[in-house]
Amino acid sequence: MERIRQALELARRQRNGFSESDQAAAERVAVRREFTPAPMDPTSRVPVDWEELRERRIVPWNDTRSAVHAYRMLRTQVLQRARAHSLSTLGVISAARGEGKTLTAINLALSLAAEPNQAVLLIDLDLRRPSVSRTLGLPLDRGLEAWFAGTARIEELWRGIEGVDRLFVLPTLTPVPQSSEALAQQATRRMLADLKERDPGRLLIVDLPPALLCDDALTVAPQLDAVVLVVTEGRTRREDVSRVLELLGNTRVIGTVLNRSSESERRAY
Ligand SMILES: Nc1ncnc2c1ncn2[C@@H]1O[C@H](COP(=O)(O)OP(=O)(O)OP(=O)(O)O)[C@@H](O)[C@H]1O
Ligand SMILES: [Mg+2]
Repeated sequence: MERIRQALELARRQRNGFSESDQAAAERVAVRREFTPAPMDPTSRVPVDWEELRERRIVPWNDTRSAVHAYRMLRTQVLQRARAHSLSTLGVISAARGEGKTLTAINLALSLAAEPNQAVLLIDLDLRRPSVSRTLGLPLDRGLEAWFAGTARIEELWRGIEGVDRLFVLPTLTPVPQSSEALAQQATRRMLADLKERDPGRLLIVDLPPALLCDDALTVAPQLDAVVLVVTEGRTRREDVSRVLELLGNTRVIGTVLNRSSESERRAY
């Protein structure tokens, strides 16, 4: 873990836009490995199986597991910065595959939407291996791939989910061919800008693919106001974190999530 801490420390020193203490506050928001189940309010939106979601470590806003505290910390830090710096489009990024981006994006979105009056739109822009809808188990038959194919309007594709007010999901169900080009095209830029302008108070949380495996994430990142970087305890390599930060260039990193942390219980307080 020391190596990652050092890399993050280095990143903090290298970056500008936020104060040392501000940046430090966002670091090491850890996610627990073990959870205890808790009840969840049912609603009338697109149905999801909360028991199943708990198994997948999706954390409902009123859950009692300590992971909720970690996500609340992340939410608070993200909200403070988003409001202080007028940021509304936030990507979730990592160096390598399987570091917990999708899980973080979903739990962050759920946590933000639990904030009174805070609308959230969760967008799946991992066009190679989209998994927001699958992870949430949404009973949908099409998503953004239809928009990219020109067969659906954005308004036809977003959905609310059961048990959560103020959260909408813009899913991608199947991989989009030539994803990098699709993300770089003017229409995609306009779509993101339009989603941002439609509801200026709403936060857009964008699930992205791994930054070092293809250029998709780095194509989208400059179109966003900031990103949250997910690193995995004991797995993410320091040089990969440094490389991602280097590649992100001027894109702001407003928080770092230390996923699969064994120290999360202590850090949750
Ligand atoms: N803190 C955690 N504890 C246990 N399992 C986890 C944790 N975070 C993620 N996982 C599991 O690891 C797998 C990968 O997580 P996730 O899909 O969120 O990663 P990802 O970074 O989005 O992956 P990809 O790069 O493929 O998009 C999932 O099965 C998820 O349930
Ligand atoms: Mg993912």
